[in-house]
Amino acid sequence: MSQGKRYLLTGASSGIGAALARELASRGYDLALAARREDSLQTLAAELRSRFGHQVAVLPLDVTDYAACQDVVGLAANALGGLDGLIANAGIALVGKAGGGHFERVRLTLETNLIGAIACLDTAAAYFRQQGHGHLVAIASVAGKRGLPHSAGYSASKAGLISYMEATRAELRGKNIDTTLLLPGFIDTPLNSDMASRPFLIGVERGARLIATHIDKRASSAYVPGWPWAVLGRLLPYLPTWMIAKF
Ligand SMILES: NC(=O)c1ccc[n+]([C@@H]2O[C@H](COP(=O)([O-])OP(=O)(O)OC[C@H]3O[C@@H](n4cnc5c(N)ncnc54)[C@H](OP(=O)(O)O)[C@@H]3O)[C@@H](O)[C@H]2O)c1
Repeated sequence: MSQGKRYLLTGASSGIGAALARELASRGYDLALAARREDSLQTLAAELRSRFGHQVAVLPLDVTDYAACQDVVGLAANALGGLDGLIANAGIALVGKAGGGHFERVRLTLETNLIGAIACLDTAAAYFRQQGHGHLVAIASVAGKRGLPHSAGYSASKAGLISYMEATRAELRGKNIDTTLLLPGFIDTPLNSDMASRPFLIGVERGARLIATHIDKRASSAYVPGWPWAVLGRLLPYLPTWMIAKF
């Protein structure tokens, strides 16, 4: 099985993506960095090239432009001389009460976190099927294990992504294409910095180290960090609604 280290990483301009790019580059990965903020990607790419000396390409991308998601896989492969993996990390967390007039926020959350991620993953899966090896990685969330109050759209997007990855894993079994589904709890990034409560929060460098190790090992699925989320994540679907309502 090929364990090449040329990866496309979406959502690389901030938070987990930027920290993960630093961590993977330090572990010898060549990277194509994608997001909307090209300036941030260029600054990060220059830092990574000078610190680690590996190939780093910059690919401006809005994942809600699904045609662009289909193009970006080929562009990454051209820029890196081939492609061994895709990490679908780009995401937003626009929260709001169900029925509170926030439909546009919900729509954008689903278009970005679910359809945008699938547009990239599906194109990469086709590319990997053709070349006979590859690695699909998705950053979902503990919030996808149970619908959480005020985060209905976000939870729905991550539940959909979990389901997509489970189905894809089963389909690709025996085809030399690995899948890794990651379920973070709370990691300190701009995505959640204004939330009132962030239980069991960890720093972004630690989160990126844990995620990079799961990617290196080609784990099929992992909570980040494992404790306490591997326990809480499995319990969440069984908790009574009155308890979930207090979240
Ligand atoms: N932080 C946590 O506690 C936590 C927990 C569970 C799951 N996650 C997931 O981890 C992923 C990264 O989140 P984060 O915490 O690192 O948040 P962040 O710091 O806000 O970073 C989000 C990244 O996604 C990119 N992005 C957003 N919309 C995009 C679009 N339409 N097209 C392309 N890129 C887009 C952003 O880049 P541009 O704005 O430059 O496009 C940015 O690079 C998300 O999928 C999130 O749901 C995070």
